[in-house]
Amino acid sequence: MFLECIECKTQYPDSEIIYRCPRCGGLLDVIYDYSNIDISAQNLKQPPSVWKYRALLPIKGEPVSLYEGGTPLYECGRLADEVGIRKLYVKHEGLNPSGSFKDRGMTVGVSKALELGMQTVACASTGNTSASLAIYAAKAGISAVVLLPTGKVAMGKVAQALMHGARVISIKGNFDDVFQLVQELCDQEGFYLLNSVNPFRLEGQKTIGFEIVDQLNWGVSDRVVVPVGNAGNISAIHKGFVEFQKFDIIDEIPKMTGIQAEGAAPIVDAFKRGVKDIVPEPNPETIATAIRIGDPVNAPKALRAIRNSGGMAEVVSDGEIIRAQKDLAKLEGIGVEPASASSIAGLRKLVEQGIIDGDECVVCVTTGHLLKDPEEIMRVCDKPIEVEADIRAIKKVLSERISK
Ligand SMILES: Cc1ncc(COP(=O)(O)O)c(C=O)c1O
Ligand SMILES: [Zn+2]
Repeated sequence: MFLECIECKTQYPDSEIIYRCPRCGGLLDVIYDYSNIDISAQNLKQPPSVWKYRALLPIKGEPVSLYEGGTPLYECGRLADEVGIRKLYVKHEGLNPSGSFKDRGMTVGVSKALELGMQTVACASTGNTSASLAIYAAKAGISAVVLLPTGKVAMGKVAQALMHGARVISIKGNFDDVFQLVQELCDQEGFYLLNSVNPFRLEGQKTIGFEIVDQLNWGVSDRVVVPVGNAGNISAIHKGFVEFQKFDIIDEIPKMTGIQAEGAAPIVDAFKRGVKDIVPEPNPETIATAIRIGDPVNAPKALRAIRNSGGMAEVVSDGEIIRAQKDLAKLEGIGVEPASASSIAGLRKLVEQGIIDGDECVVCVTTGHLLKDPEEIMRVCDKPIEVEADIRAIKKVLSERISK
């Protein structure tokens, strides 16, 4: 196993603590000697989980694990009818230990930190990364430092980082400012950076791709739709499919479809203009705070995944996100935070536009749990109706509701 720059292809040993290519600044991929890996030696009949696929993960010893992965792939018939698609599955990543897909990356990233002898791990975060870092640092018995953009992180996520003992610093700036600062801090203080620029973290997240194949009975959907913020996850899931194709487990790779919020969509913009480099959005804005990112670090990897798989990228408005969040909750019993609902909103929009064929089989990834952002729920749902402690008062309210 070694690291390879995606731009100039220079290779580096996996023991080097680098997050980008020292020669050209390019992002790094983890590359394995696939001829030396016998995936069938793993018991592929085990239930899905991140560590089920450890033959394809970069950790040699015992991992720091809280039983992450193995999330349900729900078949969603009612929502499929609503959206106008033949078959729809939702991969609900909100059911990971800290309530988001980030746990898949952090179990690997924090295990790597221990392997490398690091004592402190750090990240910038729109919230979920900090919650996940905090739980794995706690489990590993090491320190976590998290930098958050003031006032822009959903309450549930800050609460998690605090309770699990991370040192939480709130920065007067947006995520992109905070990300610049945490990189400087890690360089100067020798902290181990666990944002998704860290290629080992993305190795954990590629197991979403493995699990989708596993749960579709070793097959694939036509398409996988993913919310995109810093753009690591869509790249990681794609890598999972590419690796399973190398092992002849699947013949085809699903069309990777990335969804961004209207006010924070530099990748969609670059995709639509057919260019390689994004133009960062200086003032990203959306109700979906998890993907409120104007300068996604993994943009080159995400555009590569989308283009190589014949996929696409689209934007959705806050209104479309809220509608999708409510549909998923009410039609399927699946509770997700706003950023996660963007995958459903994007699917609906692309089907309506005739860009996605109604005959496709689609997997939407929902990345975080509903309870991450209770304040948003209270803003978009009707308030509870308060009455006297009297059965007639209750019945009156119910009859009004029913007759409405
Ligand atoms: C709930 C949720 N969805 C989507 C994303 C975006 O993932 P990525 O930054 O890998 O594109 C995040 C990132 O914070 C998130 O928390
Ligand atoms: Zn390079």
